[in-house]
Amino acid sequence: MYQIKPLGEALGAEVIGLDPSRELTEDEANALNEAFFDHLLLCIRCDPLSAEDFAEFGRQFGSPQLQLLRKRRHGDVPEVSVLESTYNSTDDKPSDMQMMRLSGWHTDDSYFAKPAKATMYQSLKIPDAGGQTRFCNMRQAYDDLSDEMKTRLDDLKTVHSYDTMRAPARAATRNAVEAEETPDVVHPLIRTHEDTGRKAIYLNSNRTDQIVDLDRAESDALLDELFAHVTQPKYQYHHEWRVGDVLLWDNRCLMHSVNMDFPVGQPRLHQRLLLEGATPV
Ligand SMILES: [Fe+2]
Repeated sequence: MYQIKPLGEALGAEVIGLDPSRELTEDEANALNEAFFDHLLLCIRCDPLSAEDFAEFGRQFGSPQLQLLRKRRHGDVPEVSVLESTYNSTDDKPSDMQMMRLSGWHTDDSYFAKPAKATMYQSLKIPDAGGQTRFCNMRQAYDDLSDEMKTRLDDLKTVHSYDTMRAPARAATRNAVEAEETPDVVHPLIRTHEDTGRKAIYLNSNRTDQIVDLDRAESDALLDELFAHVTQPKYQYHHEWRVGDVLLWDNRCLMHSVNMDFPVGQPRLHQRLLLEGATPV
């Protein structure tokens, strides 16, 4: 059996002694799910897995979902995405990191009516410095709101778009089929987790365009206030990648962003599996 060791004050735990190439027993899987609900992010240290083995491991936590952008799907195992963020030349790396889409705080695929409940991510190649992935705990951020603020936010809804001009960097281009598959969707601003019943703020700085029924200025002001609240350092955990690390994180109550400041010419490569989720309520 493995051990669970917290990674930080805000969220996250390392699972020590788990071999991802071995199928979990039912007791192990149940205990791991409980740890996942408590810590919201699990880290398993291992060697890089083949796309097949990575997908197989992920299936123990849910049903894989295809990634929208076809060009990022793995050729043999399409539910696995291959995500490279290497700077190939100095021209690729802006001086303002905000111009890199990955540096914006987001939860994966919230532009879908049924966004992925969780993401599994493994590092295959990492640069010598920088490139950490940062996470923030939206459940704790919700719990810490005043009762008055909770009441104000409880019934609000937000529009999530494939792209929003609120984000400084533009989204990757979609082909015609992909655009057809991604009309704007409306989600609750306060989301109740299907498995734990706990509430969390559900936001995405790359996709949340506007709060329904508020005018643009009012909506922008409230969204800015909420982003400032949820990204306070006390809600954050920063993951310093080692090659082979597998992270499993809960998209229903975490946002993440990448420190895009790493050296030009050093490969940064990950594989990703999205796990199907339900309609947010
Ligand atoms: Fe992401």
